Amino acid sequence: MSSTLKSLRALSDPTRLRIVALLERDELSVNELQEVTRLGQSRISTHLGLLQDSELVQSRRDGKRTFYKLDPDADGPAREFIQLAIRGARELPEHGGDQINLKRVLNRRREQAQVYFNQVAGRFDRVYGPGRSWQAFGHLLLRILPPLVVADLGAGEGLLSELLARRCKKVIAVDNSEKIVAFGAAKAKKNGLKNLEFRLGDLQNPPIEPNSVDLVILSQALHHASVPAQAIAAAGKILRPRGQIMILDLLKHNFEKARELYGDHWPGFAESDLQRWLQDAGFKKIEISVVAREEQPPHFQTILAGGEK
Ligand SMILES: C[S@@+](CC[C@H](N)C(=O)[O-])C[C@H]1O[C@@H](n2cnc3c(N)ncnc32)[C@H](O)[C@@H]1O
Repeated sequence: MSSTLKSLRALSDPTRLRIVALLERDELSVNELQEVTRLGQSRISTHLGLLQDSELVQSRRDGKRTFYKLDPDADGPAREFIQLAIRGARELPEHGGDQINLKRVLNRRREQAQVYFNQVAGRFDRVYGPGRSWQAFGHLLLRILPPLVVADLGAGEGLLSELLARRCKKVIAVDNSEKIVAFGAAKAKKNGLKNLEFRLGDLQNPPIEPNSVDLVILSQALHHASVPAQAIAAAGKILRPRGQIMILDLLKHNFEKARELYGDHWPGFAESDLQRWLQDAGFKKIEISVVAREEQPPHFQTILAGGEK
């Protein structure tokens, strides 16, 4: 049968005209069509089958449900048939009721989509959200980082340095452990990060030219320095004018075991310690705040301290 004849046959029934009119703007499932038209499920499925045969209607599976919609690419005679069917449906006595029911069904669909967010409003940051993680936020923030020259002091194996190197002009990762430097350098090479250079050295006297970097990072490293004030002053020396220092460290704690478990020299720092050392080293625009608290005991808290040279 030609497609014109198929279309004419498909539209020769008032119920199918109603269905075409209902699918004019929104895709609908069989259940939704049933609720709007008050017709039985099998009748609706049969009508939809004929409309699909004539290629006026398409379907899409979404999990266990199937949604139907008018062919969005219909042109020529198919488009004209659809327009005629919609005009015809408007003349049917059921049309008014269909449109009222359609509005109700669509409103409920919208409300259902909002139920979850309405439930979690006000505590959204504390509930699980699929795919939403600090790690993902970190990657997003990295993308907006300008092409800086960065010194990561007490870099470890370069967890942070590697991430930074993907966006920054150059990253110099300094650590005083020979093994860690060798491991980090090999990993950077394997990952093709030519702009990440590992150097063996002390964070209190980093092997970096004065006035040569835009950003110094001390991430969980300052509490290993025997004289933290000296490390902050040394960071000031290698920074270019208006360069930034960023320190992530532990807020002062009473967990004595940290010395033997993690080799820590200091039990974290008070905000006032960091403020004083940054001021003494000549940093301006100093901002210090607690940015994280661990859920598990001993509930370590992390301070972020920053300043500008
Ligand atoms: C807790 S790790 C932090 C690693 C990394 N910054 C991070 O946030 O994942 C501390 C690192 O500092 C290094 N370190 C300790 N004392 C140091 C010093 N005086 N100079 C340079 N690095 C030091 C250690 O070898 C270790 O790799």
